[in-house]
Amino acid sequence: TYIIGQPCVDIKDRACVDECPVDCIYEGKRMLYIQPDECVDCGACEPVCPVEAIYYEDDLPEDQSEYYDVNVKFFDDLGMPGGAAKLGVIDSDHPLVAALPPQNG
Ligand code: F3S
Ligand code: F3S
Repeated sequence: TYIIGQPCVDIKDRACVDECPVDCIYEGKRMLYIQPDECVDCGACEPVCPVEAIYYEDDLPEDQSEYYDVNVKFFDDLGMPGGAAKLGVIDSDHPLVAALPPQNG
């Protein structure tokens, strides 16, 4: 799967959402998350993120290794919704993200 990392937090550019052929990039309060079982590894999202927040799982920088779990566990309750558009903004974040200080500017 592909993983969204910390640079997305408080940025949420959403360019990635338009590229995903299976609509598996879901919007939380402070960042977006890729549903690992719905992602087909097409890689279309990765080059369009202006802050380079998207990585193939094997290419996650070491200082962001916890973002694998951040993406996967965000879906513990949501499961496989089968498309992000119909859900809109989900009113939560992974606890690690929720606890971060403001990342803008
Ligand atoms: Fe976030 Fe980049 Fe997508 S900032 S919303 S991962 S385009
Ligand atoms: Fe979608 Fe990116 Fe996966 S475009 S299918 S989330 S690699």
